[in-house]
Amino acid sequence: MSKLDVGCFTVRPTPEMKVRLAAFREERWIGYDSAVRIREQIESLLDHPKTHRMPNLVLLGESNSGKSMILNSVRDRANPPYDLNAHKIELPVIMVQAPPSPDEGRMYTRIMESLGMHVASREPEDSKLRRIKVMCQHLNVKMLILDDFFNIAAGSIARRRKFLNALRNLSMELSIPIVLSGVPESQNILTADSSIANRFKPIFVRRWTEERIEEYATFVVSIRPRLELEKGMDILQRATLTRLLQFSEGLLGETVEILRLFASWAVRSGTEHVTGDMVTWENLHALGYVLPSDRTRHLER
Ligand SMILES: Nc1ncnc2c1ncn2[C@@H]1O[C@H](COP(=O)(O)OP(=O)(O)OP(=O)(O)O)[C@@H](O)[C@H]1O
Ligand SMILES: [Mg+2]
Repeated sequence: MSKLDVGCFTVRPTPEMKVRLAAFREERWIGYDSAVRIREQIESLLDHPKTHRMPNLVLLGESNSGKSMILNSVRDRANPPYDLNAHKIELPVIMVQAPPSPDEGRMYTRIMESLGMHVASREPEDSKLRRIKVMCQHLNVKMLILDDFFNIAAGSIARRRKFLNALRNLSMELSIPIVLSGVPESQNILTADSSIANRFKPIFVRRWTEERIEEYATFVVSIRPRLELEKGMDILQRATLTRLLQFSEGLLGETVEILRLFASWAVRSGTEHVTGDMVTWENLHALGYVLPSDRTRHLER
């Protein structure tokens, strides 16, 4: 196993290096199999005939597992590119972050802002709802995505119930499916109310394990060209992938971050090469990486 010399981090990066390091931070969708399958499941709701009881979904997975990336991809594929000259503007998918507490008024505000509507600070909720309905019909909205649904865990049970009812009403009034996403604990919020729980079918974005190492390898293969090095990254050995799984704790966001750390080191040190034997815990630690579970442990203290 080779030990990295991290002394290069004390030297300022050149402007050229800075450009390359910034490019490593760009986020672009990679369509690995299970994500594409989940995306198809969500997209199938777009064609669902309008009824008063639309099917809804809740996408559940740990933080940094790739939920928002899947939802962004659904939105970007469904919505036409912005065109000022378009005869009629359509917006099939609206995607907003759940408000920081179970406050339906704030949820309506977020939806309206995402539609470019002006919202007066004291506008009553029923007026907001009425205007959202008109605008959604006008724009032919077919789906509402509410990301980071766990935010609403902040409130009391009564507040949450009221919020969930508002969500159900919204789906019925607009006759559109709603897709929620959140960490696995979010499911508890929904199951607390059986009339809501059975309206939201769960889909899981699972942590990666050895069982799916081939698919994991295809993701790593696709991310490599984004972290371009003159001599490349030789990291596809099974033992290296197993260590990557372990250090990332099976989370895609962590996998990308680890590979970014090594690629950035390769640029800054001038080595321009990353090999499997460099991917050790000792080296990652030297690059400043902390295991995700250690981060939360620290926060809990
Ligand atoms: N399909 C993908 N293509 C490319 N990169 C991905 C993909 N999925 C996940 N990633 C990487 O993982 C990171 C985390 O993904 P994402 O933000 O979607 O996680 P999340 O599950 O929404 O997390 P949180 O619950 O904290 O919001 C992304 O910033 C990106 O670097
Ligand atoms: Mg997210």
